[in-house]
Amino acid sequence: METQSVAGVELADPDLAAATAHGLDRVEELLHREVHSDYHFVSETSLHLIDAGGKRFRPLFTLLSAQIGPSPTGPDVVRAAAVVELVHLATLYHDDVMDSATMRRGAESANHRWDNTVAILTGDFLFAHASRLVADLGPEAVRIIAETFAELVTGQMRETRGPAESDDPVRHYLQVIAEKTGSLIATSGRFGGMFSGCTAEQIESLHRFGATIGAAFQISDDIIDIASPSLDSGKTPGTDLREGVHTLPMLHALADAECPPRLRELLSAPIETDAGVEEALGLLRSGPGIRQARETLAGYAEEAQAELRKLPPCAAVDALSTLTTYTIDRTG
Ligand code: IPE
Ligand code: IPE
Ligand code: MG
Ligand code: MG
Repeated sequence: METQSVAGVELADPDLAAATAHGLDRVEELLHREVHSDYHFVSETSLHLIDAGGKRFRPLFTLLSAQIGPSPTGPDVVRAAAVVELVHLATLYHDDVMDSATMRRGAESANHRWDNTVAILTGDFLFAHASRLVADLGPEAVRIIAETFAELVTGQMRETRGPAESDDPVRHYLQVIAEKTGSLIATSGRFGGMFSGCTAEQIESLHRFGATIGAAFQISDDIIDIASPSLDSGKTPGTDLREGVHTLPMLHALADAECPPRLRELLSAPIETDAGVEEALGLLRSGPGIRQARETLAGYAEEAQAELRKLPPCAAVDALSTLTTYTIDRTG
């Protein structure tokens, strides 16, 4: 079957693909308009990552979700899609400071290109603009974004602190990813439903579906951090190892009775040298942790597809099913 690629996702229905591509163009225009400042430097630092690319996964999901409702192309849908991308973007600037990252979206990260202060202030600037834009969507949307952001930040904080002695590390990890990534992707689907006139039940389904593919999306990201060369991801592999963050493939590797003692030793603290990172990546790539993380990922995908079956069958729901497959397959 002929498909059309929209933001890297192959969509089967030509009308839906055209409407979504057009919606994304409008989101792009709005993002550029929104970050304009009379003080040129802050526009420059904001546009740095907007123009570097990115998958636009969250606005894409908002636009596809909106196709389920009776008014999929209203101005509030595009606004809502821009809001979730702006919030996401703000968190990327801050995340790269926290993770001491040097590369983002195939470009230098802002903290590396300028410094931490510039990156933090740019994130704040973007969040301020997301707040301004969401105000146009009404008080319920403002409350939802505030709650989403609090949840996301809680996840980042929980990751930073790490599991307590008494916590099950896998449970801790799953809670972190639900909060730091699932929360905003869930809101992206919810907004698509809300601003296109979906029923309360449909909005709830889109919210739950988003939470599930959001968690899957983060597990994929954590697999990619180990398995892919940076040319593919636009980021430096092994960033989690350098930060001493134990992601799902590492937790599975450590739980394996036959885990090589050298890998245990390497994972016992943040890895500071390139050679150490390369060695750990090699051991992780050849061990069972990645395979087991892929199994968990498949479980989330199944749960997401089950949620979709509660929605009326239509081209938009088929597209969300494709989005689920894309989330899984992107790990290669
Ligand atoms: C990166 O998000 C942070 C995660 C939650 C994994 P994306 O993978 O969506 O990043 P961009 O927007 O495409 O750069
Ligand atoms: C990103 O988590 C989550 C948020 C930005 C909220 P990561 O630190 O795992 O994402 P990448 O790998 O840097 O994109
Ligand atoms: Mg990071
Ligand atoms: Mg991080």
